[in-house]
Amino acid sequence: MRGMSGREPIGGRTPDAAAATLYRAVCGLLQEVLPAARRDWLAMLPGTPAARPTAPAPLPVLDWLPQIRACAGPGTQALADTVADLAGTLPWGQNYSAADFGAAFQARYGFMELIGPRGPLAAADIACGLLMFAPGTEYPQHRHEAEEIYVVLAGRAEWRAGDEEYAVAPPGAVLHRPSWSPHATRMGAEPMLALYLWRGGDLMQKSEIG
Ligand SMILES: [Fe+2]
Repeated sequence: MRGMSGREPIGGRTPDAAAATLYRAVCGLLQEVLPAARRDWLAMLPGTPAARPTAPAPLPVLDWLPQIRACAGPGTQALADTVADLAGTLPWGQNYSAADFGAAFQARYGFMELIGPRGPLAAADIACGLLMFAPGTEYPQHRHEAEEIYVVLAGRAEWRAGDEEYAVAPPGAVLHRPSWSPHATRMGAEPMLALYLWRGGDLMQKSEIG
């Protein structure tokens, strides 16, 4: 059973097993939602990736998982529920510090590399994981060498690429960000959960801000 905070690991489930279960679900959704122009990313995801030992590392932002379940879309509900079920068992992290966006931001975001150079599942040329924000959080403009795809799983946040206006991307939306292109996201009344995929360049890079 989950504890009241929603952050306790689920009894008996190991991080390895949780990662494998989540990876199958993630690959299934990507098969459904990636458009033809992005399907080459699918071929880069290994069918049976090697596992790395990891320990559960929940973060305060996971307290919003009940709301995440409530603001997924028809096509993403199953995966959002799987994430909410397994999140407490997985190794979440933060690559920004309070010096970047302040202490309040640190309590309101987290990411979890599911597969890649450092996640519980190993891949060298691609990374894929989860990104989560609490309501009312702004993820300021940033950029990185890797080309990126976001798939929104829950929450109607506003997203911006380059000099475009902010626009709501609903659950199920697939967003593409070319290498080094600046982009930003701001959450409204709902928390936001997205998949991210990175390829090209340094897959462990800390994004450049601004
Ligand atoms: Fe990004």
